[in-house]
Amino acid sequence: MSFIVRLNSGARTLKAEAGEPLVQVLRNARLRIPSACGGRGRCGLCRVRIAQDLGPLNELEAKKITPDERACGCHLSCQVKVDRDLDVALPENLVGSRDYRVRVTAVTRVTHDIARVRVELLEPTAIEFKAGQFMEFETPLRQADGAIACRTYSLASAPLESPCAEFMVRKVPGGLVSGWIFDQVKPGDELKLAGPFGEFHLNPGERDLIFIAGGSGMAPFASILKEMQHRKDPRRVRYFFGAKSVRDLFYLDELAAFGKALPDFTFIPALSEPLPEDNWTGETGLITDVVARHFDDCAHADAYLCGSPGMIDACIKVLTDRGLSPQNIFFDKFT
Ligand SMILES: Cc1cc2nc3c(=O)[nH]c(=O)nc-3n(C[C@H](O)[C@H](O)[C@H](O)COP(=O)(O)OP(=O)(O)OC[C@H]3O[C@@H](n4cnc5c(N)ncnc54)[C@H](O)[C@@H]3O)c2cc1C
Ligand code: FES
Repeated sequence: MSFIVRLNSGARTLKAEAGEPLVQVLRNARLRIPSACGGRGRCGLCRVRIAQDLGPLNELEAKKITPDERACGCHLSCQVKVDRDLDVALPENLVGSRDYRVRVTAVTRVTHDIARVRVELLEPTAIEFKAGQFMEFETPLRQADGAIACRTYSLASAPLESPCAEFMVRKVPGGLVSGWIFDQVKPGDELKLAGPFGEFHLNPGERDLIFIAGGSGMAPFASILKEMQHRKDPRRVRYFFGAKSVRDLFYLDELAAFGKALPDFTFIPALSEPLPEDNWTGETGLITDVVARHFDDCAHADAYLCGSPGMIDACIKVLTDRGLSPQNIFFDKFT
């Protein structure tokens, strides 16, 4: 048995088999719906709006979709199994995204678990994006559920570096795609990417900037800082970076160069578990504590956060406790 999926008021019509996950129907039609969790309902990136009332959200959807979004018919397309004809509205911000064929030019391990991956675009040969956005990697790997494994990685390069692009990938213990990129992808390999996706980017303004990241959360800030340098952005930046010990720090030469090129940039690394041999004299403790020690009042700033959901939630609390309005806090959770 099959059903009809009408997209954006009938602009396009797709056929779906009964029980097929909606995200799969969209992907089979080469429509780019980003996924960082392989359809497991954890990243929340695959949101669409559905005109029909499908009943209550499932448990995973309820964690990601706000009551306001629910009222607009929002669902996670990976959680919707097609069981009737559907009218689906795709987010407008997907309009500029497309498929890219790229060749890997370098894979450089910069810590024990983070690699910088540089690629050149083969087809098309240019990409436009906002510093802070991410791409989706489509891999030849299959997940346990048989689906092609796709994951998202933030661009660490600046738009002006096109036709080259760079990513920073942390090898997650037991991680299917990050492990494959870290251990097996090599220069000369061709990969399929899609994008750009995401709303995380530097907004214009004159307020001071607080950047907070951990691990591979460095990537979007590398892109944003390059873009700031290119645009001669005069804003004051305090960049807090959380790591366990010295072996988890990387990109330090580039950050030192930003310190010289930008008018008022300070990088503040903080180690939560420094080793005796690190001889560390810098900040120690959780990144939240370090941020709290630096500011009594953050009301004057815009804050940009990137990293694990736990780190981001904890930082939002510290910042709002110090007077920063939630509307001045922007973040990308690496779920
Ligand atoms: C918007 C966005 C941007 C992202 N950008 C980057 C980036 O620039 N660099 C980067 O390295 N990653 C980034 N990620 C995370 C990335 O998309 C993958 O989720 C990550 O690489 C894990 O995929 P995997 O296939 O290796 O692990 P999986 O095989 O999917 O998971 C294996 C195990 O690891 C756990 N796990 C999954 N992800 C994480 C995690 N991030 N930390 C700890 N445990 C985890 C899972 O619960 C599971 O138990 C981003 C995610 C999002 C949503
Ligand atoms: S792909 Fe649906 S929530 Fe991640």
